[in-house]
Amino acid sequence: MRARTRTRTQAAPRRSAVVTHEPIVVVPSTTPKRFFGRGIPGEEVAKLNGKLIVVEGADGSGRSTQISRLVEWLEGTGHATLQVGLKRSTLVSEELEQAQHGNILSRTTLSLFYATDFADQMENAILPALRAGFMVLADRYIYTLMARDLVRGMDEPWLKNLYGIALVPDAVIYLDVSPEQLVQRVFAKNQALDYWESGMDLGLSRDMFDSFLKYQALMRDAFRRLQKTYGFAIVDGERPAGEVSDELKEKIEAVLAGR
Ligand SMILES: Nc1ncnc2c1ncn2[C@@H]1O[C@H](COP(=O)(O)OP(=O)(O)OP(=O)(O)O)[C@@H](O)[C@H]1O
Ligand SMILES: [Mg+2]
Repeated sequence: MRARTRTRTQAAPRRSAVVTHEPIVVVPSTTPKRFFGRGIPGEEVAKLNGKLIVVEGADGSGRSTQISRLVEWLEGTGHATLQVGLKRSTLVSEELEQAQHGNILSRTTLSLFYATDFADQMENAILPALRAGFMVLADRYIYTLMARDLVRGMDEPWLKNLYGIALVPDAVIYLDVSPEQLVQRVFAKNQALDYWESGMDLGLSRDMFDSFLKYQALMRDAFRRLQKTYGFAIVDGERPAGEVSDELKEKIEAVLAGR
């Protein structure tokens, strides 16, 4: 985390014959923020000076790769950053992990468990960091949670109401990668598929490989459906990582400039 004092809106002190190669800091423009629904009680959105950038995408779509590139770039240009993601709350992440091992919870209970984890991070990590002017990078957000539940037949208005506590992000980027490409990346990285990311609880196939392909195709459809409602950017994540991150930087530069 680094903070620099020199900005584009603030002239640097004159230093004759001294050439500095310090990156120039772009002060994020303040754009009005709002919650999707009722929000967090007592929160004054006008005081949220930072930016919330969400990177969405399936298992193995390259979210971690892109976020680490973005963090390096943002911190290198003088922005303090905070990374958040699903199942990372101090309140319930351990209990949620344990519950998933047993596969004992009903769909609604699991959904509410994830919503609790999300709410805790919203209130105790995301909002305080935004108040302090941080660039918050979210590795997945409510869209993944909603897509997973939609695929499991849950009611869309109920989900919208549940996630009314979420802040509308400044940018949402969905890394679009085909299920066939995903399976290769996940195998190369982990040498195994994950039970939940393969949708094994849905009974699509007894074969995990086959189930992963079917489940990820359903998730991709659910994301496209959500995109129509929420209008996020769909970025082709099958290109080389450098090309993808160039596109992401362009989009985030526009957010910083208030475009
Ligand atoms: N654009 C890309 N082209 C090819 N391979 C990639 C690309 N981006 C990432 N990878 C590789 O794909 C694998 C998954 O990438 P990464 O861990 O960034 O994805 P993720 O979405 O964070 O996955 P997870 O859901 O497991 O957290 C890694 O081995 C990574 O090196
Ligand atoms: Mg990751």
